[in-house]
Amino acid sequence: MSKTIEVFDGWAERGRAEGMEAGHKPRAQAALDAIPLESGQRVLDLGCGNGWAARWLREQTGPGGSAVGVDAAPLMIERARAQSEGVAGVAFEVALFEALPWGAAEFDHAFSFEALYYAVDLPLALREIQRVLKPGGTLTIGTDFYEENPHCHGWPDMMQIPMQLMAEQGWIEALETAGFKVEKTFRCLDSRPVDPEWPAEKQASEHEFRTKIGSLALCAVSVQSD
Ligand SMILES: C[S@@+](CC[C@H](N)C(=O)[O-])C[C@H]1O[C@@H](n2cnc3c(N)ncnc32)[C@H](O)[C@@H]1O
Repeated sequence: MSKTIEVFDGWAERGRAEGMEAGHKPRAQAALDAIPLESGQRVLDLGCGNGWAARWLREQTGPGGSAVGVDAAPLMIERARAQSEGVAGVAFEVALFEALPWGAAEFDHAFSFEALYYAVDLPLALREIQRVLKPGGTLTIGTDFYEENPHCHGWPDMMQIPMQLMAEQGWIEALETAGFKVEKTFRCLDSRPVDPEWPAEKQASEHEFRTKIGSLALCAVSVQSD
């Protein structure tokens, strides 16, 4: 885990949290829009990076609502806090998916984009998320790293940290084992043109990813009461 934290602290220092915000947001929006948010609710963003999704979730829940972002990397949380100064109802904590620092049934919804596959113990992380969600609470996950996306299979060699590659069916089974019912899955596409400055091969693979493959989104509901 310490290597994962070191890598993402380094990304935060080099401005890559904002790069992820710009890169992920256009695809993540379809997943965010699938969360049945209501005014006054409390929402958790897992692996929040610079906190862009937590701030958006906060806005949607009205004056009585709140959002909390968690991330293992202290420098990501530092950036998230700095960028949220003066925003009421949003908070950020350094914590692991596998040991969430909250009691049972504290959140109405949980969201995670491009993060849960870094869990060193995904079954434990999903059980922890299920524990802090109210019965009937939702978990919405978006991931670019999944078996059916051939363009991501080389990432673990590049990253050199633990990453769990699973197919859509593997995600569904992992969620169901942790006490969730998967209500729907879909792909989030991205209509932005790719950067013409990139090498031709990268342009072609990114174009295929954005227009045909997309991020895998899974929308699940907590169905187990303990
Ligand atoms: C690829 S980034 C995505 C950040 C953000 N969700 C976004 O889309 O911009 C993954 C984040 O998950 C965090 N992370 C990885 N493993 C974690 C764990 N076990 N517990 C908590 N956070 C973790 C990393 O520190 C990193 O900031």
